[in-house]
Amino acid sequence: MTEPVTITERVSVVIPGLERPYTFLHISDTHITHAYENDSDAGKALAEKQAHAWNQAGIFPVDAFANVLEYADETKPDAILMAGDVVDYYTESNVRYLGEMLSACKTECLYVPGNHEYAGNATFDDMRATLSPLMKGTPDFWVRDFGAFVIVGVCDGTYRFTAEQVEKLKAVIAQGKPILMMLHLPIRSDVLSPYVAKSWWGSDVTIGGTFHGTDEPTEEFLALVKSEESRVAAIFAGHLHYDHAGEFAPGRMQYVSAPAFTRFVREVSVIPG
Ligand SMILES: [Fe+2]
Repeated sequence: MTEPVTITERVSVVIPGLERPYTFLHISDTHITHAYENDSDAGKALAEKQAHAWNQAGIFPVDAFANVLEYADETKPDAILMAGDVVDYYTESNVRYLGEMLSACKTECLYVPGNHEYAGNATFDDMRATLSPLMKGTPDFWVRDFGAFVIVGVCDGTYRFTAEQVEKLKAVIAQGKPILMMLHLPIRSDVLSPYVAKSWWGSDVTIGGTFHGTDEPTEEFLALVKSEESRVAAIFAGHLHYDHAGEFAPGRMQYVSAPAFTRFVREVSVIPG
């Protein structure tokens, strides 16, 4: 039984020269779980336990997620931006169930992995192999071209950017189109980092922040994203389990979604300048 979805927040991103406006729904941290009839008792118990743990707004995660998918099919945004932790932990059952939900959805879903996609019984290779079809075949870095702009999805669920991701970003930047970037963990910024450190996280858990530390490729990636030449117009992330909107560079916003299991849905209008 689905319930009506209320848009929690509406934001706009200006892209000069756009021929028509675009609409996206930005969600993150749905943390869905599912066990099938033939799953082990332990598997069923874990799925049930976690479904209850994340029922913090009078709704189970799978139902909150189903509501968003149905809302999208009714209102027809250009895509749903799913910014990671879509499944609560990696199991074949969780991913299979997610795949079934997404294939029943008529709206395009753009998906980057979160740290929870890596949590479970699997190796990274297992995770990548199973989730890849839902992430354009390349969970680490993918590009969706909308003509006047691109959406780039980058995996930062392992708390770092890699040298390969730096090179791929450089190649996209060379195309010269404005970029909307999807991440799971938000990036370090003068606005967000002190805020996160003072929150219940107790430390700056952004990418490049003090908690997870940093390295050369991560710093290079961050510098590229923040540079004006990159044309990264906005970032859409999750992970913090509270919402945030603040500049990651002058005039350019980083949007963090609160968990979709708390019914948080951000509508993003991409409009001509
Ligand atoms: Fe999460």
